[in-house]
Amino acid sequence: MTTASLSLDGKNYELPVITGSEGEVGIDIGKLRGASGAITLDPAFTSTGACTSAITFIDGDKGILRYRGYPIEQLAEKSDFIEVAWLLLYGELPTPEQLAKFRAQLTYHSMIHEDMKKFFEGFPNNAHPMAILSAMVASLSTYYPETETEENPDENIVRLIAKVRTLATYAYKKSIGQPMTYPQNKLRYCENFLHMMFAVPCEEYKANPVMVKALNMLLILHADHEQNCSTSTVRMVGSSRANIFASISAGICALWGPLHGGANQAVLEMLEMIQKDGGDYNKWVMKAKDKDDSFRLMGFGHRVYKNFDPRATILRKMSDEVLKELGINDPLLEIAKNLEKVALEDEYFVSRKLYPNVDFYSGILYRAMGIPTNMFTVMFSIGRLPGWLAHWKELRDEDSRIYRPRQIYTGATERDFVPMEARG
Ligand code: MLT
Repeated sequence: MTTASLSLDGKNYELPVITGSEGEVGIDIGKLRGASGAITLDPAFTSTGACTSAITFIDGDKGILRYRGYPIEQLAEKSDFIEVAWLLLYGELPTPEQLAKFRAQLTYHSMIHEDMKKFFEGFPNNAHPMAILSAMVASLSTYYPETETEENPDENIVRLIAKVRTLATYAYKKSIGQPMTYPQNKLRYCENFLHMMFAVPCEEYKANPVMVKALNMLLILHADHEQNCSTSTVRMVGSSRANIFASISAGICALWGPLHGGANQAVLEMLEMIQKDGGDYNKWVMKAKDKDDSFRLMGFGHRVYKNFDPRATILRKMSDEVLKELGINDPLLEIAKNLEKVALEDEYFVSRKLYPNVDFYSGILYRAMGIPTNMFTVMFSIGRLPGWLAHWKELRDEDSRIYRPRQIYTGATERDFVPMEARG
């Protein structure tokens, strides 16, 4: 199948068809407007591809998610977040030397310029950490104005992965009035993050290995997800050749939305609301099923996955293990488990494929780890950063044209200006 035929106003157009490595079929309409004057219209891009990409493959019907061909289940079980970050960026699993050098670079770049700490003083204590993170990531461009240097074109990619933890934990420490904690060179990525989040000057802190393992898994599961809203935003901004920090800051802002990365925060806010209302989750399930009621359960269903979210399957198993190992009996988590049971058994939810998704379980785990609700989407940002950077790099390496979609105009047709005295 090499072409698709389109008939418009009695004329036929042959459009080239491309087939991806997993058999996905794309009709290339790049020349349609020039040939016919017509464009296609797909406002939420439900059937429109913005690019080809070799980074992540998703089969929504079969619940498949692979990073550079490796199944997410294997990476979650056998790999670690920094190894997965390298895989996403460079397409292959790193050699021991490559991984050791990458880890050393991340350690070297983990601090932020001391003057950047002054930026935090200007934020109100109740500032949302996503506002701080997007502002501080964009501000990194004031210290590193060159997006890429000849001798090390990926140095800012390393800087971002290294420093995002420091910026995120500084935002958290400021919000609770505690002094910021510097990174520790002796600690690896996730343990260093937990140390910066929870260590206080007055006592020793050693991260619980169960939490380190859980965090590694959570970040791996969030590392990439093909052309989701925030990744498409990073590609859009990157296509204008805006600097890497501006592109990533835009991705953070897109992820913040409750329909995207903000869903994990919305899940916990929903559970807290049900708990405050007396914990009667069945009352809220009935409201969610009532077509005249605007309430909807957050953290259920997914635009792409039609039967189940493979990340949720992994997290569901892990959350049971982590809660048991951490000895956590949280009434909020009980409400979550009851809602999960309903969603997996009640015909209303099963028939509508409203199963618990990755956001449902990630919020539960972050809460169990002591991470505050308003930091959940920050955690998603830390996990998704390697994916954003891999797509930004792919766009740069293929020298993509600037993204500039067309539109169909539906406003007023031509009319003459009306002077003020003649207006009614
Ligand atoms: C994601 O991981 O980005 C979310 O599941 C949303 C999506 O893929 O559209």
